[in-house]
Amino acid sequence: MRKVRVFAPASIANMGCGFDIIGLALDEVGDIIEIVQSEGDGLTITNKTDVPLPDDIEKNVITPVVRTFLKRIGKKAQIDVTICEKIYPGSGIGSSAASSAAAAYGMNELYGCPLTEEEVVEVAMEGENLASGGYHADNAAPAVMGGIILIRGYEPLDVVKISVPGNFYCAVIHPRIVVTTKEAREILPKQVPLHTAITQWGNVGGLVAGLFTSDIELVGRSMKDVIAEPYRKQFIPGFDELREKVLAAGALAMNISGSGPSVFALCNHKDKADAAGKIMGEHFDALGIKNEVYVVKVSNKGAKLTRVSI
Ligand code: HSE
Repeated sequence: MRKVRVFAPASIANMGCGFDIIGLALDEVGDIIEIVQSEGDGLTITNKTDVPLPDDIEKNVITPVVRTFLKRIGKKAQIDVTICEKIYPGSGIGSSAASSAAAAYGMNELYGCPLTEEEVVEVAMEGENLASGGYHADNAAPAVMGGIILIRGYEPLDVVKISVPGNFYCAVIHPRIVVTTKEAREILPKQVPLHTAITQWGNVGGLVAGLFTSDIELVGRSMKDVIAEPYRKQFIPGFDELREKVLAAGALAMNISGSGPSVFALCNHKDKADAAGKIMGEHFDALGIKNEVYVVKVSNKGAKLTRVSI
């Protein structure tokens, strides 16, 4: 029997302009799971948290991750997973990706790391597909690898890790509005006018250049999304007014976190992130919408073992 205990961090997808191709890992907030491998052929998942998750394992993102991993390495085993800590699903900080990444990373560790880091991300993407109906890695890749990740291409998967320059903090607000990733993806146009694509390409290039050169101003002015945000912001009451207030308080940028409904402000100082978080909380309080605010450091750390016993 072998056992691992794994942590995988929360993450924020898109960073505004990088729809499906950029995501960042957050510090300390995340999922913890334990995986026990023994002889046999089966899978159980036990939820020890107070976060409600489906009882049917076919609906749990960990299931396709474990099965895909075993298929990929050509092995059979009895796998028993215990979920010890869980980000609330729908909180907009990559809950499904954290479980998927923890499962993929943990399985790889159990078997002596037969897969590369990129292949671990590919396996984790199976969980994202179950959760959202699409193979996107902009939460899964940072949850596995940490830092800010650019997904240069999907066929084949080609990921570039960008170390986080300096002290970046995110203020994230989760307003209690239900918007599923599936519905937030379905409302998007299938085609984009050329001038819109040109604006987005410029912003993505500017964001990556700004991160590599630690040009904070360039990072901030590049985090503008002209493709998904115009459709998705309708789900977030007062989005434009909120952004004006948050930017006036010193945030570098404010965008929808992944597919929403959470919103995040990127800041280069904790005090500014605290101020942005306060403004965001007051905004939704005034609208009578319950919310939770987190102020979290952007992290270079990805999935990791927290304890191993063999
Ligand atoms: N890139 C994905 C989207 C992230 O925006 O739909 C989902 O969390």
